[in-house]
Formats: sequence, structure tokens, C-alpha cells
Amino acid sequence: MSIRLGDIAPDFEQDSSEGRIRFHEWLGDSWGILFSHPADFTPVCTTELGFTAKLKDEFAKRGVKAIALSVDPVDSHLKWIDDINETQNTRVNFPILADADRKVSDLYDLIHPNANDTLTVRSLFIIDPNKKVRLTITYPASTGRNFNEILRVVDSLQLTDNHKVATPANWVDGDEVVIVPSLKDEEEIKQRFPKGYRAVKPYLRLTPQPNR
Ligand code: BEZ
Repeated sequence: MSIRLGDIAPDFEQDSSEGRIRFHEWLGDSWGILFSHPADFTPVCTTELGFTAKLKDEFAKRGVKAIALSVDPVDSHLKWIDDINETQNTRVNFPILADADRKVSDLYDLIHPNANDTLTVRSLFIIDPNKKVRLTITYPASTGRNFNEILRVVDSLQLTDNHKVATPANWVDGDEVVIVPSLKDEEEIKQRFPKGYRAVKPYLRLTPQPNR
């Protein structure tokens, strides 16, 4: 089944490098990043998991829990984690699901047979505290993901959930944001955006980031 934005992230129970995980219970009230990788002991995946481990403080600041997945078993994950720690100069601080029976892979449509009929693709889901899927991406096996971009999307989602704004192209935390077109009432605009705004066009109104 493919997962679409706004869907409730499917719940599951599966083994991991940190023991059995009941997904929704494990997420609790946090945001979640669930990401699959093709296989253990592969070079691109090694760099991805190492980089994710180094983002621990950035995830914590945003209330995000990360969890990885491949179809390799727990004993393989545990041996590979030693390699990641050694080569990437970090300590893997999040669980890696051992989806040997493909239960989670099937639920999240992580095996794309026309790309590879046994390995999981490089997919990633951002899940909000209501367990709704807010972002999906799928990358080819040969391209490592940009995890700074994932943090940027979390920042955008957390900002736009709390203010009537959207974030423009290449926005990063602290840049000007866009007032949502549906907000027309001038009094409400003044109240929400006391620093003012500039209207480049009636539908393109830019304002300083409201939570700064
Ligand atoms: C990797 O993680 O390095 C990788 C995995 C599958 C195909 C190509 C690269």
C-alpha cells in the first residue's frame, strides 16, 4: 500500500537493534522520522546512518525521534552499527528496524520491484505527533539523502502548524515567510504579524518569521 500525505502512519510491531518496537507507542507525543535503506554494510547507507546519529541534538531540539529500517536481521544490524560508529566517528543512538519478514516494508511500500525486488528503497517519512504522515520522499539507492533538508522540512512544518504562514523556496529558519493567501483580514494580519509585511503581489506577501 502506498502512503500518502495526511494518512495515519501505519502502526506495527517489529524487532530492532534496540529490542521489540511497537511503533505508535514508541513515537509517543514526538515527531518521527522513519527511513529505509537498501542494506547493511553498504557505503552510502553507512554515511547516512552516521550523519543521522550526529544530528541527535538537532532532533532533540525539535522533539523528533529517528528510526531506520532495512530487511537485514538484528545480528547484522548490531555488527554494522560497530562499523558505523568506527568509520563515521559517532555512536548510533536510534533503533534500526530488522524487517527480515518485510512486514513494515509491505505496510510502507518500501520494496519497489522494478528497482530491486528484494532490497528496500531509500524512502523517508516525517510523521507528526498526531501520527499523520507529513512528508514522503524516495531516493535511488545510489544517492544518499540530505538530512539537513529533512531538518529544514521539520522546521517548516512546525512553524506553519503554529502560524498562518508558508515557507518559500530555499527558506531556512530565520528567513522571511509567506502569509497564507486565505488570510485576508487586515486586523488579523496586524495582530499576527506586528512587524508588518510587504506585498510583492496581492497573493505574495512576505513577513519576518513570526516566532523570531
Ligand atoms: C549504498 O548504500 O552504498 C548502496 C546500496 C545499494 C546500492 C548502491 C549503494
